[in-house]
Parts: sequence; structure tokens; C-alpha cells
Amino acid sequence: MNEESFPEGFVWGVATSAYQIEGAVAEGGRGPSIWDTFSHTPGVVDNDDTGDVACDHYHRWREDLDLMVDLGIASYRFSVAWPRVMPDGRTVNQEGLDFYRRLVDGLLERGIRPLMTLYHWDLPQSLDVGEAGGWLSRDLPDRFVDYALVLGKELGDRVPAITTLNEPWCSAYLGYASGEHAPGRTEDALAYRAAHHLNLAHGRAVTALRDVLPPTADVSVALNLLQVQAASDRPEDVVAAQHADLIANRMFLDPMFGGGYSDELRTSTAGLTDWSFLRPGDEAEIGVGLDSLGLNFYNPSRVGAGPGAPFPGTHRAFFADIPGPRTVMGWPIVPSGLTDLLLRVHRDTGLPIRVTENGLGAQEAVEDGVVHDTDRIDYLHSHLTAVHEAMRQGADVRGYYVWSLLDNFEWAWGYDKRFGLVHVDFADQRRTPKASAHWYADVITRNGL
Ligand code: FCB
Repeated sequence: MNEESFPEGFVWGVATSAYQIEGAVAEGGRGPSIWDTFSHTPGVVDNDDTGDVACDHYHRWREDLDLMVDLGIASYRFSVAWPRVMPDGRTVNQEGLDFYRRLVDGLLERGIRPLMTLYHWDLPQSLDVGEAGGWLSRDLPDRFVDYALVLGKELGDRVPAITTLNEPWCSAYLGYASGEHAPGRTEDALAYRAAHHLNLAHGRAVTALRDVLPPTADVSVALNLLQVQAASDRPEDVVAAQHADLIANRMFLDPMFGGGYSDELRTSTAGLTDWSFLRPGDEAEIGVGLDSLGLNFYNPSRVGAGPGAPFPGTHRAFFADIPGPRTVMGWPIVPSGLTDLLLRVHRDTGLPIRVTENGLGAQEAVEDGVVHDTDRIDYLHSHLTAVHEAMRQGADVRGYYVWSLLDNFEWAWGYDKRFGLVHVDFADQRRTPKASAHWYADVITRNGL
């Protein structure tokens, strides 16, 4: 591997998720999800945008797969909408399954490797009823196992790699503590209960899937581990940053890879949760072996004792400013954070890693048939250089997936913030590959920068 090139077999991919691109929310027997309910609540998403139509990928998937062929994409990371496959969260809807079977077959026919995420936040609404529903319910891990088994049995023979959860941190802390995401709850203590049930769902699903998947299957989880830096050397800032690392990262890493929730985590969360949701045997169920790990990265976080925006799930840590360039999302651009994080995860887990998401959000338009997104090219270039550096220092990184193939429904930010390599005109659904798409195709051709 020289300075510019990646090892042979390095996987170049793009990523999307179901609710963000599919649309067709009431077609093919799909039931409502918590994101349908949330996005239809006035005032919670910018411009009151919803995923009702999104990129209309449900109807245009062939065209979208052909776009990937044009770019030379080797692997496509997509997610399955649980409410399409099980509209009430429990009963199988064959029409929904058929959609994903066609999609997967379409990928394989085009020589693109599917990387299938089971849960990218669109929980069936019928599983989130009442005060203690959704991920607060101890029943959810088993519902998730049933769902995972349906996909494993139906598509496991043709999907070589399956990811259980996407970014459980967001599901737990943004869904239940800060309320920025569905279901929009705002009590810190709830986030810890939700996080534990997500962990349990992951562990049980991995164990169940092993029974139905071929032995060659690659089973993983995709985490958005936070690269947390202390705001300063002051002891109170260092303590706040350690606290943030514990609740955001080790809440997932400890049980998945460390043998159980650590004493440090338990001590650090005293007063935030009483851990009454944890039962004997749970940690063993969560800590099952994985074949690889997905890592989503956009920016590091600087954290201190305040002042600043509160860190979700706690009142003891606050975000501090990171000086330097930012994206229109307000996210600092610090590629070295990705090198540091990859090396940490390599040390902590020893697993092969895929960068399952990385990309830049911008507000941009087509001018004379072209989108000159040089800022995105710079971002991707510098982050790929950071990946390369982590590999040079020993991290076992097997692939890189740009977020995203298409401009799409960016959760609480709606359609205003665009992450695609391909521009989508949401009025007529026209797709226009941006300059970054052509650049990425070139990177793929030369297997390097
Ligand atoms: C990640 C999400 C993904 C997308 C990017 C920008 O947190 O997994 O769906 O919204 O952020």
C-alpha cells in the first residue's frame, strides 16, 4: 500500500437508508413507522418535511442501481424498512419482502455486493404504543429477533453481510433524551433503558441469525462512536469528556466487546439511571462475537463542563466549540479525528472495520446541468487520506461507504441539507451526478487518491 493507493480488494461503497430514500410510505402493504408519526408532527422537522415521497426510490430503484454501476460502486449499504416487512411489527408482509428480494437480486445482477442494515431507525409504530413502548419495552429485543430471522431466512443466502443496528446512540439518546429524533421523548433516564434494550436486541439477533445464515456470513453493527476530546486540560473538562465517552461510547462498546457494562460506566451514570432494566444474563447475551464493525464518522466532538449545548443524556457534559472550518450542518471538519477513532476502535475490538458512513452535508443546486461540489470532494479526499493513515498505522479497514448515494430526507433537517454524490430534484425526481460523483468514480478506478 503506497501513499496514494489502497490495498487490493478494498471495498468502495455508498450508503443510504430506507426511510430517507424510499417514499411510498402507504404502498405495498407498508405500515407506519415512528418516523412517519414524528415527521408529521408540526415543527419537529425543518420545513415540516416528511419521508412520504423522499427520493421515490421504491419505484425508481432500478435507475438508482444503474447509477451505482456508472460510478463503479462495489458495495451498497442499504437498510430494510421493518414496517414494510412487518407492517404491525409482528406479521410478515410478503409484498414488502419481495421488494427487498428484487433489490438484492438487482444488486447481484449488477455485480454490487449488498450490505444490509436491519434497523436504521424506522420502528413500526405499532411497537411504540403508550408511555413504556418502543425501545423502552423489554419486549422489543424479541420482536427484533423475529424480524431479523425473517430477513436472515429470506435473504441470507444472497446477502453476504448483515448489520443489526445503525447508530444505536442516536436511537437511544436523540430519540429518548434530547427528543430530536423519533419518538421525540425528552427524559435522560429513558435513553439508558432504550440503549440497553437496543444492545440486547443486537446481541440476541446476532445469536439467532447465526443459526440461519451460512457460515461465511459477515455480521456486524454500525456505531457512530464519538471521538471525544476534552475542551481543555482543566480537571473539570477532562472529567466531563470522560463522562461523555462512557455514556456515548462505552455504553455500547463495554457490553458488546468488553464483557459487560463497566464499573466506571455504572459510577459515571449514578443519578442518571438506576440500571433497574439490567437483568442477570443480559450482558452475556449482548457480548456475542461479531465478524466486523461498521463505523460512521462525520466529526469529532469537544466536550467540557460547560457552558455550551448539553450533551444528550446528561447534565454533566456540554459541547464546546472546535475552531476551524465547518459544514453547513455546523459540523467541524477534522479528518484526523477519523484516524484517531479508527485506531481506537482497532485497539478496543481488534475487528475488521468498515467506514460505513462518511460525507458532507451542503445546500446546493444544479447550475447549467452541473453541481460543483468541490467542498464535498475536499472533505472526502481528506477523510480518505485519514483512513489511509489509520491503515498505515495498523487499523484493519476493509471498506469505505460514502454517505450518501442520493440527496435524501436528512431526518430533523429535512431536504434542505444534501449529502448525495447524486443531486435529486425533489420536484421532478431528476437525478444529476455531482462533480463529487465523477471524482469518486475516478478514485474507485484507480483504487486510490
Ligand atoms: C447519520 C445517519 C444517516 C445520515 C447521516 C448524515 O447519523 O446514520 O442516516 O442521516 O448521519
